[in-house]
Amino acid sequence: MPEVSASELINHAHAAQRFAYAPYSNYLVGAAVLTADGSVISGCNVENASYPATICAERTALSAALAQGKRDFVAIAVVTRNGGTPCGICRQVMAELGPEMIVYIADEQGNFR
Ligand code: THU
Repeated sequence: MPEVSASELINHAHAAQRFAYAPYSNYLVGAAVLTADGSVISGCNVENASYPATICAERTALSAALAQGKRDFVAIAVVTRNGGTPCGICRQVMAELGPEMIVYIADEQGNFR
């Protein structure tokens, strides 16, 4: 992985978790993607009263990266309080945008897989 270690990427995701807008679930999620040029772009979940309009942290980060012209995805880290795994929609998006991407699933204590 170019220059950024797994634990550093997880730290970025953890830092973004505090920005989550999750008043409906109270489940805060942070994500950070690493691109081939060594860039790290973070995201958090953004909920809405119309709940299907909610955007997961993974898709927020990936969308932000694309909007910055970065799409060569190497890895993504996701941090939740219990090490939860990405939903089906995020898996579909990750499979299309970064089929070789390493996915790190982490909790707030720094445990990851
Ligand atoms: N969520 C994410 O942001 N990423 C995941 O991997 C799992 C779920 C969000 C969606 C919603 O805002 C909240 O977590 C509860 O499902």
